[in-house]
Amino acid sequence: MLKIAVFVSGRGSNLKSIAEAIKNREIEAEIAAVVSDKLDCPAFTIPRKHSIPTYSVSEEPKRGFNDYSFLIEKFMELKIDLIVLAGFLKKIPDELVDKFENKIINIHPALLPSFGGKGMYGMNVHKAVFDRSCQVSGVTVHFVNKIYDNGKIITQRCVDISDVQTPEEIAERVIITEHKLLPFVIGKISRGEVIIKNNRVLLLN
Ligand code: GRF
Repeated sequence: MLKIAVFVSGRGSNLKSIAEAIKNREIEAEIAAVVSDKLDCPAFTIPRKHSIPTYSVSEEPKRGFNDYSFLIEKFMELKIDLIVLAGFLKKIPDELVDKFENKIINIHPALLPSFGGKGMYGMNVHKAVFDRSCQVSGVTVHFVNKIYDNGKIITQRCVDISDVQTPEEIAERVIITEHKLLPFVIGKISRGEVIIKNNRVLLLN
């Protein structure tokens, strides 16, 4: 059984979609930890209701927050196989990337490598896509490396936005695809169907 740690900073709708997929037995996985940099974010209330251990992290020492070395030790103890960034806004420190090489994935609400990088999250992404008058946006799930939104792409889905009137409409359409794609990728990883060959990510059937 794949043991996952989910990192969140916001409302937690992607975390919910993963939990649902597990509950409906679409994925054989267990959410063994939820981590956040924001103690009061709505996403952090979800694991507490289900008795899933939560950890708060900060890059700098702060009262009530754990540092990343503590987290790495915990993850080793919990035997975490995969880290899923589901709306986590902080950069993942290099020490965690080194320890979990090709075992950290992120969901991005646009088609990378466009509209990614530092500061490109949430509505900032959708506003930029809208202002550029893109006709298509989408969702990217990718491995996390030491640079923002730069790791190898696992899979992408396009979303037609040719008739939208506002960036909010883009967000509404894109999130529907996010909620399907992230559980899909976690399922694939849990079955060993995501491999890297010839420097490219391959999804096996
Ligand atoms: C999602 O759009 C995700 O792609 C982005 O942040 C948003 C998080 O939404 N990285 P939620 O907290 O999962 O509802």
